[in-house]
Amino acid sequence: MKSVESIAKNLKNKKIILRLDLNVPLNNQIVTDSNRIDKIIPTLEFLINNNAKILILSHVGRPKGKIIKELSMEPICKYLNEKLNQNIHFIKTDINNLKKQDLFDGKNDSILMLENLRFYDAEEKNNEEFAKTLASFGDLYVNDAFSCSHREHASVSKITKYVPSYAGIQLMSEITALKKITNNIIRPITCIIGGSKISTKINVIKNLITKFDNLIFVGGMANNILKNRNYQIGKSIFEVNCEDIVENIFTLSKKENCNLIYPVDVSVSKEINGNVSVKKVNEILKDDLILDIGPETVKILSKTIEESKTVLWNGPAGYFENKNFQYGSLEIAKKIAERNRKNEIYSVAGGGDTVAALNKFGLTKYFNFVSTAGGAFLEFLEGKKLPGIKALE
Ligand code: 3PG
Repeated sequence: MKSVESIAKNLKNKKIILRLDLNVPLNNQIVTDSNRIDKIIPTLEFLINNNAKILILSHVGRPKGKIIKELSMEPICKYLNEKLNQNIHFIKTDINNLKKQDLFDGKNDSILMLENLRFYDAEEKNNEEFAKTLASFGDLYVNDAFSCSHREHASVSKITKYVPSYAGIQLMSEITALKKITNNIIRPITCIIGGSKISTKINVIKNLITKFDNLIFVGGMANNILKNRNYQIGKSIFEVNCEDIVENIFTLSKKENCNLIYPVDVSVSKEINGNVSVKKVNEILKDDLILDIGPETVKILSKTIEESKTVLWNGPAGYFENKNFQYGSLEIAKKIAERNRKNEIYSVAGGGDTVAALNKFGLTKYFNFVSTAGGAFLEFLEGKKLPGIKALE
């Protein structure tokens, strides 16, 4: 894998197709956590300082091939404009109608950004023609989107067939740090998995069981486990057709001596912004929505963290954006921070929402490494070769 830094001298006036992961949380088209954007600023500055022209490609959300106004890249482009203090030209034209000669045609157009790649279903299908079209827009391709390199998509994987391709600065640093962590890891190791992207994570868990001493399920991830144990989960999110996978997780964890921990109590509400009540997991009603873990669960988690030497955390324990349901995530973060301050634990966090929660709580500095990646972070820990990395190699 060649790094873009290794070709710094050859970048002058080159048109760089730069794949970033600007999949940041938006609320009414306002960026509510900028961690992923902040992390790629050095890459942009490096390219600007080396007089390259830059075409930024990214996705945000999961529009599934449809144009969804709320998932436009435009507010992210505006945010980046201000942050970089540069004029980034946002291009709304249908990608299939764009020609290389139409790009960078204005005098001051040295940084451009295209609209959400996932407005085109060809992107997620890793479509050959779409990849060729994207590749035709520039001289070189740079992947600085480690956090979506687990996706076999046209702008991450197939594009590398059609244009000389390089690894970006942030991608290289994520890989170097994660390799170091996985090679020098100290036991007991606890992995906390939460969040709402259940489908992405559930298949990964089987391979993590063999590597960790404790696996803690919180957030949406825990709902599938509770359902499997025959608890009512009401209107809470869960992934369909996962019974066999979850059954497998229990069987394997026994065999491998990995302790599986999941909520014994939760905070529920009748609606996402409704009143809160704490319930034991056998008290959940059909119209309840699980939105956080409860205090008894927090006690169990704290004890597990207390006994661990390494903690890896991906996915919040609840709907932390609402302060009524931030309790579980905050307590986990506080416990890890407490041990990290005393140098008793090595802590790593990954994933857009987890990092947003840590930033909200002001506790990011108590983590030895913070990855921008969520799903890619777990797949990397699993030991899997990510399609985006494989394509660069
Ligand atoms: C992420 O946020 O993990 C990446 O942007 C990938 O997003 P996805 O899970 O929607 O593919």
